[in-house]
Amino acid sequence: MSETGPDATWVFGYGSLIYKVDFPYLRREVASIEGWERRFWQGSHDHRGTPEQPGRVVTLTASPGALCRGVAYRVEESVFVHLDHREKNGYVRAPVQITLAGSDEVVAGVVYYAAPDNPAFLGAAPMSDMARHIAGSTGPSGSNRDYLCQLVSALEGLEAYDEHVFELNAMVAALGGPDDPSAGA
Ligand code: SIN
Repeated sequence: MSETGPDATWVFGYGSLIYKVDFPYLRREVASIEGWERRFWQGSHDHRGTPEQPGRVVTLTASPGALCRGVAYRVEESVFVHLDHREKNGYVRAPVQITLAGSDEVVAGVVYYAAPDNPAFLGAAPMSDMARHIAGSTGPSGSNRDYLCQLVSALEGLEAYDEHVFELNAMVAALGGPDDPSAGA
């Protein structure tokens, strides 16, 4: 199967898909999508929280003129069996135009998007509430705090400053807690 074959597709990752790459890909490029911003507005019942106490993970919200930086992967169609399962809690595959950073080439692809009408959607809340929520949530894939920290590291690696994410990270760090060695026993 070649990278240009008819059943190869680009998928854009802006959250855990940037740093948790548990799927095969044919090509990986730093990339961005236009008109969207990353927000911790989606509930997580299956990865970073539980049905009783959902965590908070990222989705996209429309924002004309904004650029959301992430990573684009060229994948075989069969990879979507795994990705659809991984992203099953409210995300749908939506078509998107992706700009590849290296070449400025614009390619057609898909992105996992959790719309406001999905049952797990939590929506906006004051930053301090979201920080406390993240600091206190955990699920089968680990702590919600760890999801945020890994996203911050991944974005730093892409030299992508995302005010919403970095501000939340600072607020969660300031709360201290079980993962913070300075918080004591
Ligand atoms: C993504 O990473 O592109 C979707 C959201 C997530 O899995 O964190």
